[in-house]
Amino acid sequence: NPSMFFGSTVINNQQNQIPQEFVWPDDKKPSPNVPILQIPLIDLASVLSGDQFLVSEATRLVAEGAKQHGFFLVTNHGVDEGLMSRACTLMETFFKSPTCEKQKAQRNHDESWGYTSSFVGKFRKNLPWKEMLSFRFSPQEKSENHSQIVKDYIVKKLGDGYNNFGSVYQEYAEAMSNLSLRIMELLAMSLGLNRSHFVDFFEDNESILRLNYYPKCKQPNDVLGSGPHCDPTSLTILQQDHSGLQVFVDNQWQSIPYNPQALVVNIGDTFRALTNGRYKSCLHRAVVNSETERKTLVFFLSPKMDKVVKPPEELEGERAYPDFTWSLLHEFVMKHYRTDDNTLKEFA
Ligand code: SIN
Ligand code: FE2
Repeated sequence: NPSMFFGSTVINNQQNQIPQEFVWPDDKKPSPNVPILQIPLIDLASVLSGDQFLVSEATRLVAEGAKQHGFFLVTNHGVDEGLMSRACTLMETFFKSPTCEKQKAQRNHDESWGYTSSFVGKFRKNLPWKEMLSFRFSPQEKSENHSQIVKDYIVKKLGDGYNNFGSVYQEYAEAMSNLSLRIMELLAMSLGLNRSHFVDFFEDNESILRLNYYPKCKQPNDVLGSGPHCDPTSLTILQQDHSGLQVFVDNQWQSIPYNPQALVVNIGDTFRALTNGRYKSCLHRAVVNSETERKTLVFFLSPKMDKVVKPPEELEGERAYPDFTWSLLHEFVMKHYRTDDNTLKEFA
């Protein structure tokens, strides 16, 4: 029974193999040595300074990363360090609590928020070696929907003992939403658009905040923490406490360098469509290791559900994708979740 697997029963028995459901086929297994991907490092403070030279240097770097693979790192992003580290450390309060406690937030199969774990649930193949807790988020003053207020959702599902926990992730989601809009300004400038072009589009975003918990694994070369996929959302901002993220570039898996000062940003399918295919969303995956557990916090920026995703006139030309709403793509992804990079193509 995989649900028993994380219990101490297995830790006492070093001979045990991990359950077969977690073992990936040989051609999908992570290789122990992969090259480190060269990705742009953007100093956001220099962009905010308004210095023309620094701004144009940053837009050039962003465009380079966005065209090649859609990944870049940002430093001096202005998010409070205390908040960042509280949000990361507090994850343990939840993930180390008993399964029955975590299941109070159990995700419904047709929703993309709540708690999920491969270790409980139905028997399948290629299970990801992780547990997740996800929340819906929309900027509070604009949200009439209480389930989009992270704190309210947490306290409702997990009880008053999670008040502080709820406040931290509410604040963290707000900080990430604001940061994503700053990055959208940079992306707009890098495409030669009006600085506020995407800010106007994403101001009332309906996003997801996800906490990923990857336990240690004694057969790390047999499993994946997250299988290969492209993010269907628009922009992803990731905080991590260890390395583990890999991207498929130039026909090989390459790892994202670990920089404790930096957040990892990547472009998702929806933004790819918004740029008429000029910027890429790229296949990526997460590996795990035998020495340490890994925690990541991921903010997925998405437009308001009913907004039409359509590139601006400046980026038109032959259309790479037809118009669509995020709610349609979201529905498609929930139905046909895929672990390769064809979701957007097939959807289109
Ligand atoms: C993901 O892309 O699904 C997770 C990435 C990570 O946790 O490193
Ligand atoms: Fe992802």
